[in-house]
Amino acid sequence: MQTRSVLLLPGDGIGPEVMAEVERVIDWHQRHKVIAFNLERGLVGGCAYDAHGAAISEADMAKAKAADAVLFGAVGGPKWDSVPYEVRPEAGLLRLRKDLGLFANLRPAVCFPALADASSLKRELVEGLDIMILRELTGGVYFGEPKEIRDLGNGQKRGIDTQVYDTYEIERIGRVAFEMARKRRNKVTSSDKRNVMKSGVLWHEVIVALHKRDYPDVQLEHQLADALGMQLVRAPKQFDVIVTDNLFGDMLSDVASMLTGSLGMLPSASLGETDPVTGTRKALYEPVHGSAPDIAGQGKANPLAMIGSFAMMLRYSFGLGEAADRLEAAMADVLASGVRTADIGGLATTSQMGDAVLAALDKRAA
Ligand SMILES: NC(=O)c1ccc[n+]([C@@H]2O[C@H](COP(=O)([O-])OP(=O)(O)OC[C@H]3O[C@@H](n4cnc5c(N)ncnc54)[C@H](O)[C@@H]3O)[C@@H](O)[C@H]2O)c1
Repeated sequence: MQTRSVLLLPGDGIGPEVMAEVERVIDWHQRHKVIAFNLERGLVGGCAYDAHGAAISEADMAKAKAADAVLFGAVGGPKWDSVPYEVRPEAGLLRLRKDLGLFANLRPAVCFPALADASSLKRELVEGLDIMILRELTGGVYFGEPKEIRDLGNGQKRGIDTQVYDTYEIERIGRVAFEMARKRRNKVTSSDKRNVMKSGVLWHEVIVALHKRDYPDVQLEHQLADALGMQLVRAPKQFDVIVTDNLFGDMLSDVASMLTGSLGMLPSASLGETDPVTGTRKALYEPVHGSAPDIAGQGKANPLAMIGSFAMMLRYSFGLGEAADRLEAAMADVLASGVRTADIGGLATTSQMGDAVLAALDKRAA
């Protein structure tokens, strides 16, 4: 049995509440000898600012770099709305992504059959939906320089962000997309805005060349990002793997989140480059949702996005696909049995949802 080191960063708001449930699920996997963990804990976001004056301390960054994987809750909240920009809660997450080189963000949008009616779209459009949105995470307009507000001296200011992509950045995310498609339904939809952006022209060019050179067996199509947004709500089941840049991926994956019913259902993974010597890669797993200050402390948070993020860790960091399948199936069992938190139309508390997942795991392991 492998022993791996995992850093737990619960964060703020409902982060610690959903982390408490996933810790019980982690413990279940240790008790059943699926895998052993050395668990470390740290602070990130507003709670780290309160403790250290930074969104993540150097000591916790060092722990993140040393760990085989990081499990992250959520950060932010009104308490920290006016802290300096550099140390705002989200800066902790951006630092982790940047310093760990997490360039590939995987956001699956899967519609559990029991929840097809919780989607804002009609049942027949989303039932059986299983798509993967792959967002480039360390480049593009969120990081490009110059990035500033310039005083023009005439009573006007100019806000500047810069969209920049280099060939290697597009190629490495393209590779992840094609490799992933080969293990799924073998189709990649690449999305950019090459009709109005030079970075989009290069994006398209690099993806086409990579496909021709190394992945001609995978079906490739292209859609402009605005048209893709429309298609995602018109006929989402046409997609398998969607690959796009940081900005478009941010928006399109949030659109896709509503196809599945609730933000409280969506896990994600962020992966770095594979080390050619050890064959391992840095990785961070987190629910897509934020710290939900409106329901924090009330036992209403849905822990399934957090638990699903741990399932992705089992699959993508530790090669435990069967254990991940079992955990995802246990979550589907819970939903099918009618146990639900308020966001998906039920009355269960966060810990009752955790209880139900553990009971479903027990049943499947029996
Ligand atoms: N990765 C992150 O840590 C992250 C992501 C998004 C937002 N944020 C931060 O979170 C704070 C709140 O932002 P927001 O309200 O725009 O987004 P949010 O995702 O926290 O909440 C949006 C809505 O979804 C609900 N919701 C979210 N997760 C849920 C869950 N697990 N179970 C049940 N309901 C859930 C919330 O109650 C809220 O009504 C802000 O400070 C924001 O900056 C952090």
